Amino acid sequence: METKIDATVADIKGKSSYLERVAETFSHKAKAMLEMMPFDPFEYKIMQVFFHLDEPNEKFRKIFEEHVFKNYFFKLDQLQQNKNDELLEKIREKEDIKVTIENDENFDNPPEFQYIVKNILPQLVTEENVLENKSIDGCSCTVQVEETVESCGKDSQCCPKLCKKPFMYKKDNKGMTILRLLKGIEIIECGDICACGADCINRLTQQRKTVDLCLFMTKDRGWGLKTINDVSKGTYIIEYVGELIGEDEANQRTETTYLFDLNEGIVADNRFHTIDANVNGNLSRFINHSCEPNSKVLYINNCQKDPKNLKLCFFANKLIPKDTEITLDYRDGEIIPERAGIPALLPICTCGSENCRKVIY
Ligand SMILES: C[S@@+](CC[C@H](N)C(=O)[O-])C[C@H]1O[C@@H](n2cnc3c(N)ncnc32)[C@H](O)[C@@H]1O
Ligand SMILES: [Zn+2]
Ligand SMILES: [Zn+2]
Ligand SMILES: [Zn+2]
Repeated sequence: METKIDATVADIKGKSSYLERVAETFSHKAKAMLEMMPFDPFEYKIMQVFFHLDEPNEKFRKIFEEHVFKNYFFKLDQLQQNKNDELLEKIREKEDIKVTIENDENFDNPPEFQYIVKNILPQLVTEENVLENKSIDGCSCTVQVEETVESCGKDSQCCPKLCKKPFMYKKDNKGMTILRLLKGIEIIECGDICACGADCINRLTQQRKTVDLCLFMTKDRGWGLKTINDVSKGTYIIEYVGELIGEDEANQRTETTYLFDLNEGIVADNRFHTIDANVNGNLSRFINHSCEPNSKVLYINNCQKDPKNLKLCFFANKLIPKDTEITLDYRDGEIIPERAGIPALLPICTCGSENCRKVIY
């Protein structure tokens, strides 16, 4: 027997059809494990013995499965779990929603990044105000008008109206604030200069978030973000935060995966051009593209329109059932010019929707 035991790792990998069959009865993680051989010496030895038994008997199979496979998984799972717990701890310090991490595909952990919940502003402009509408002082909707106290709403002289924009929020039948209109790209919320308080309906993205989120490993698109509970249409999900940078800086960044350009119609000043969530970001940096998305990003500011205060916020654009991946169209509604063949470097879209455009940018 001893001479037969020195099969090399390559041999085992090459002839591991039995192991692969066993692995299938477990999960994708079992397959990932096959890629990660050798195990620790003891487990590796058992594996070798086992490998040389042509028709392993049932008892041996059980021992093997329970003591080698499961033990090995258990250790890796523990390691993965511990690292995830560290990250969750950091996230929970800053987020008021429930957050979980799930990976049934392999033993990877989410990448390292600094967890922030507010944009990091360009150094030069942190103190300077770059107000576009200097004449507007905010609304005074809550002022008492004879008997009644008016509050901010679509019929009051509220900030959106003062800026000639539609009032974008309403209450649903459960009393939750949601989008009134799904069309449009810009929302004018109430700000510090308004007479209303923190619970004003026109401050949705300044209030506590309500959508619990799970960071999970997708089959073929890296990490993604999914819902834990049903999310109704029009619900505010999360802000896309990162480092706010100018156009020149954005063009120089070599890691472009997490760049999100601000809409030029919204901020013309090119010192405020892009949000980069590569080094500093939150869970929204994991939202993948779909050609048939279930969320959209709206640009939020108050009526003074200081570009420093601009926020990019994700809203559900349809009902998102629980345990569903949250997706965004990275080229939101843009007509993509016909391309003669797809350049090799562009990532191929695997969103799986019927009208998939095959590229994600
Ligand atoms: C903003 S990141 C999203 C999070 C990313 N999956 C991760 O693990 O960090 C964008 C990257 O995710 C991948 N991705 C997003 N949507 C995709 C899609 N529909 N098909 C294929 N890859 C996608 C691409 O690699 C893309 O460059
Ligand atoms: Zn207001
Ligand atoms: Zn208000
Ligand atoms: Zn697609």
